[in-house]
Amino acid sequence: METNRRITRSGVLLRVLILAAFTVTITAQKPAPEVFTLTVPNGPILTRLNASVTLPCELSPIFNVEPLEVRWYRSENSNRPALLYKDHKIQEAPVDPRYRGRVSLTGGLERGNVSLTLERVTVEDRGEYVCHVSNERWYEKANVYLSMNVTGSAPVLSVASGGGGQVNVTCSSEGWSPQPKLTWRNKEETEIKNEQVLFTSDSQGLLSVSSWLLYSPSDSDWLSCTISLSEEEKRESRVLPHKPGAWKEAFIVTLVLSLILLCALSTVVCILLKHRDQMKLEQNKSETKQLFKGTENSLEKRTVKEGINLEDWHQVKAFKENITMDENTAHSDIRVTQEGKTAQYIKEKEMIKSSIQRHPHVLANQSFGSEQHYWEVKVRDETVDKEVGDCGQLSWYVGVSRDNAKRTSTVPVTPLHGFWTLFYEEGKGFHVNTDPPTSVHVREDLSMIGVFLDCDNQSLSFYNVDTESHIYTFCDVVTSHKFLPVFRPGQHPITILNEN
Ligand SMILES: *[C@@H]1O[C@H](CO)[C@@H](O)[C@H](O)[C@H]1NC(C)=O
Ligand SMILES: *[C@@H]1O[C@H](CO)[C@@H](O)[C@H](O)[C@H]1NC(C)=O
Ligand SMILES: *[C@@H]1O[C@H](CO)[C@@H](O)[C@H](O)[C@H]1NC(C)=O
Repeated sequence: METNRRITRSGVLLRVLILAAFTVTITAQKPAPEVFTLTVPNGPILTRLNASVTLPCELSPIFNVEPLEVRWYRSENSNRPALLYKDHKIQEAPVDPRYRGRVSLTGGLERGNVSLTLERVTVEDRGEYVCHVSNERWYEKANVYLSMNVTGSAPVLSVASGGGGQVNVTCSSEGWSPQPKLTWRNKEETEIKNEQVLFTSDSQGLLSVSSWLLYSPSDSDWLSCTISLSEEEKRESRVLPHKPGAWKEAFIVTLVLSLILLCALSTVVCILLKHRDQMKLEQNKSETKQLFKGTENSLEKRTVKEGINLEDWHQVKAFKENITMDENTAHSDIRVTQEGKTAQYIKEKEMIKSSIQRHPHVLANQSFGSEQHYWEVKVRDETVDKEVGDCGQLSWYVGVSRDNAKRTSTVPVTPLHGFWTLFYEEGKGFHVNTDPPTSVHVREDLSMIGVFLDCDNQSLSFYNVDTESHIYTFCDVVTSHKFLPVFRPGQHPITILNEN
């Protein structure tokens, strides 16, 4: 109105010029039409969490909307819009505080573009928005739907008894938007139809989904549960469902096996402990053994590093063993009595000399192939001295016999033929049966002899128990065989002394 008045006051030239300018202005900024419409997309606008998104809304026809009011609001909340443009500017109030600082109109109001740009999109931003444009005479509104695909958690599968040999498999997951699709599949990837899908919404409007399925499991059949929004937005879990009954059986079997394993384990532990003790003992023995290695004969004394003297009778007597004589190995002139403890030479002229060709001795029941062994024999008993006085068998010996030694009397009793002995011969005194024999210096009244066989060290030693002294050590008792204590009684019976 005012403009028109000014024009009437102006001169003709000026009028023409102003008219021309006015026309240009009109073409650029058409006045608000009486009626307009809004153009919005048909489908929803898809966005991602935290992204910026534009909700398009344009006027038709195109005209400058700066003088108009633009209001963007959630359909349920028109009083507190997300954005309010009024009086040529964006208003601070009344607006929804959740959108403060995140919304703008960047499309160009002068070109009729009232699109809303929303930044840092949250899950709550999803939903329907209303684009509302108005002047004094007219208003128009249109809905724009903001959609967001939110992929939820990995499905959790649980198995419970379903009755009738079946299992009830449940699949559940949460945090989805929009509503996802749940699919059951078997091992062959074949879909198992199931309408039992339940959706529940959380406070943020995200969806939880769950479904259960009755299934007859066979041993190797797994089930898969897939929850998806699209090919790219999906999550899958698998389960190998077992019959609850089979479970129980499996549990019992496992329990029994565990118990057996436990028993076996404790047995092994016991054996190991025992073995360890034995190892210790062995170690002790071998320590002792090393000491014995030193002595080569009765007079020469050698000690091994860290060893003790083989001549120490107190050391070797620690290996004392109970041994007995084997009657079956006795020569027919030898009688074994006192439960295998005593061997006595008896000259019975009337006896059939079935074993005349054999050495007149007897072997022990025990044989030794390893470790250390000590035994004691009594070779002199004054009480029987006179009784057997003229039997003519004054010679005796004790020692060891190799288990494969030939015992016929034609075979000499020497180490070469498998005998290592200390013997006494009438007129020759005490000897060891090396070839030729080696004299040993022993008191004439020797009565108790200690014999120490160290298989591991290939030695055999003799001791005078009465004087607790060393007599002699063989160092050539080669242990590829076992050895048996051997006793040949003479004028006196030979008695094994087992008492300590
Ligand atoms: C309107 O503005 C939005 C946001 O700036 C833009 O994406 C859209 O292309 C504009 N529309 C037209 C028709 O120019
Ligand atoms: C299977 O388990 C679900 C719960 O996970 C339960 O709601 C449903 O009733 C069960 N179905 C049967 C047949 O037991
Ligand atoms: C979002 O989810 C819908 C199904 O709800 C799906 O059709 C669409 O392809 C998904 N969008 C993308 C980008 O994956």
